[in-house]
Amino acid sequence: MIIVVGSLNMDLVIQSQHIPRPGETVLGNGFKQIPGGKGANQADAVAKLKGEVSMIGAVGADSFGDALIKSLKEDGVEISGIYRKKEEPTGVAAIIVEKSGNNAITVASGANFLLTREDVAAKEDLFIENGILLTQLETPLDTVQYALKAAKAHGMKTILNPAPGRSLPEEIFQYIDFITPNETELDLLTGMNTDTMETIEKAAQSLLEKGLTHVLVTLGKNGALHVTKEGMKHYEGHVVKAIDTTAAGDCFNGAFAVGLSEGKSMEESISFAMAAAALSVTKEGAQTSLPLREEVEKFMKEGKVQ
Ligand code: RIB
Repeated sequence: MIIVVGSLNMDLVIQSQHIPRPGETVLGNGFKQIPGGKGANQADAVAKLKGEVSMIGAVGADSFGDALIKSLKEDGVEISGIYRKKEEPTGVAAIIVEKSGNNAITVASGANFLLTREDVAAKEDLFIENGILLTQLETPLDTVQYALKAAKAHGMKTILNPAPGRSLPEEIFQYIDFITPNETELDLLTGMNTDTMETIEKAAQSLLEKGLTHVLVTLGKNGALHVTKEGMKHYEGHVVKAIDTTAAGDCFNGAFAVGLSEGKSMEESISFAMAAAALSVTKEGAQTSLPLREEVEKFMKEGKVQ
């Protein structure tokens, strides 16, 4: 069983020739409303890859909240841990996707920031020994830290995807088994330069000194780097035509959790996650881009996108 504690957002997406500079207005090519939010995307990725998943999060008492819960439920996510908060609207993310597939995102957190440690504690019956807790940083840090600590107390494995990037209190690291930053998040976590492979390796190693056992740096089209006390392993990225990179990191995290939950080795879990994430960038949007298990297995076998 995989528990995701995290955010749900309605993504308001505009395609654009390029991401506007400050003060610039750009005419875009269309607008879509797509279910998103890092937590919900990760939970949805798990469900589409045939993992068993429950989501703990919060939305407002509004139509975006209705739509987000409905779409997760339809995809197979267990939603009894999603709270409806009357005081704030459902989170929204304004997303500009440019021609290259790169994006710029601003999130109005709304109800996500009303998710408390008490809300998590009230759903702790979902926490079971040998389960996996997957969480991110789009809900209050106090709630995230509580969830990680509670999960460890229940004998679960924990994964923190430290996104959006920020520095973290020292205390939290003892509750994390796997941390999965991208290069920018690694820089924000460690305060160290992450411009080259060498500096990325150094920054990742510095996290091991904080008590972490597995640092997994996602490097976009350059693959991923797994760093432990025993050494490092670089995984080459897949070559695919990127349409939209939104939620690629979320897809990686969800798929990685599925791999671990099935008892796959680290190598197998990372390879599975990389294949799923590569497929996700070939489609538009967040949850609309997340691949099914069959698609990932086919891609891993044949090495090409259908
Ligand atoms: O990681 C992508 C997600 O970040 C989007 O779906 C958006 O909602 C923001 O949370």
